[in-house]
Amino acid sequence: MATAEQLNCYDFPKGFAWGAATAAYQIEGGWDADGKGLNVWDTFTHQGGDRVFKNQTGDVACGSYTLWEEDLKCIKQLGLTYYRFSISWSRLLPDGTTGFINQKGIDYYNKVINSLLENNIIPVVTLYHFDLPQAVEDQGGWNCEKTIEIFNHYAQFCYETFGDRVKFWITINEPHVVAKLGYEEGLFAPGKKEPGLGAYRAAHNMLKAHAKAWHTYKNDFKNKQKGFVSIAIDSDWAEPYDPNSEKDKEATERYLSFYVGWFAKPIFVDGDYPEIMKTVVSKRSKAQGLQTSRLPEFTNEEKNMIKGTADFFCLNYYTSRKIRHCTSSADESSCTSDIAAERIKDPDWPECGVEWLAVVPWGLRKLLAYIKDTFGNPTIYITENGFAQNESPVIKDVQRWTYFQETLTEILKAIRLDDVDVKGYFCWCLLDNFEWISGFSVRFGLFHVDFDNAELPRTPYHSAIEYSKIVKRNALTGPGETVASLNN
Ligand code: NOJ
Repeated sequence: MATAEQLNCYDFPKGFAWGAATAAYQIEGGWDADGKGLNVWDTFTHQGGDRVFKNQTGDVACGSYTLWEEDLKCIKQLGLTYYRFSISWSRLLPDGTTGFINQKGIDYYNKVINSLLENNIIPVVTLYHFDLPQAVEDQGGWNCEKTIEIFNHYAQFCYETFGDRVKFWITINEPHVVAKLGYEEGLFAPGKKEPGLGAYRAAHNMLKAHAKAWHTYKNDFKNKQKGFVSIAIDSDWAEPYDPNSEKDKEATERYLSFYVGWFAKPIFVDGDYPEIMKTVVSKRSKAQGLQTSRLPEFTNEEKNMIKGTADFFCLNYYTSRKIRHCTSSADESSCTSDIAAERIKDPDWPECGVEWLAVVPWGLRKLLAYIKDTFGNPTIYITENGFAQNESPVIKDVQRWTYFQETLTEILKAIRLDDVDVKGYFCWCLLDNFEWISGFSVRFGLFHVDFDNAELPRTPYHSAIEYSKIVKRNALTGPGETVASLNN
């Protein structure tokens, strides 16, 4: 518990990691430069069909492949101690395998990593952030068990190539999003639609791939390289729509189990899916006349392999929902109907530049406490959190800065009042970028990027300037300044 002295002070713990995050496809551009292979987002965006806002693509994006030095300037201007970026798998290994290695890709990431380290910035590297090599997708992608070993080889290659300098690895970013949007609803690349089956199968393979890559590090690299490996898990916070309704409370628990629990329970607790998930999907599968559950099962050996495969918890948090129980007919086969929960945005919650992101900073504190209690009090890094502006962003983004201040206050409360071991915060995103199916219409950057100017100049938003002050003093407020009370 916090002491009275701590409650009056807005310092973050010593050594708190201050970062910003990006992802290769969203910022790099250079989609076919220097021997890069295609990935599923190249294919998806090039197919057009209005699946992406104005049929935009990440072909150029922020041009970070050629403008890395400009990004580095932004990172230094913020004074960050950590920078999270992802490796474009097909830039390194054009067909996804070590059969052909693209030296130009290695050179690029060496340049990024080395220049970060020269500036005392610790690199946090995501191996796979939505951009599966197209050649791997062509062999079945995450629908296929073979991808587990292919991913493991890729991870091994990255540990070998960069692990002398990279000590923080994130295997997969948001497997929940990849599984649901990529392999069930078809809204994201690779655009597969297989309701009721696709997400469960893809998630199953990603969990095994992650676990394998964690063991590879532990067995073959950890002693020498002394780094850490985790996975970035995204989740909403959720509360019952009617706090007095048992049904809504159950639906909320179900919602969280199918969200954060889907990945965190196997990895942090016992190698297996949440009981609620197993029961619900198996019951509904039976009612649909199926012999086996649509949710695949892990063997005991697999459970043992998956359990404990994260050196800390990487959480991506953006928003919250009120949850109301709803009924779904037995013959409806989809992950969403299995959950049988209506997601409601409280009309009192402010919105930002993207429709799904209701602004709920306190939801983060609640989610952190839930993770602490449910998944064995892990050390947590918030590897993504952000607030978007719309197509007409303002440089003086005061509303957004208020959001960040409120969010950081909630994190301090989680640390002080709830004893959650939060060790770092990565703002999403360093730059305005290609926001997947919203294209460039949604701006999450700390730095504005002028996409209409061929030189893609970066300009700090007000939030960037304010964030840099917090980073510098490792405290939310400067002398004499106050924000919301930390008392409750
Ligand atoms: C999480 C994803 O990891 C990132 O790629 C995306 O841009 C943000 N959410 C905002 O939607």
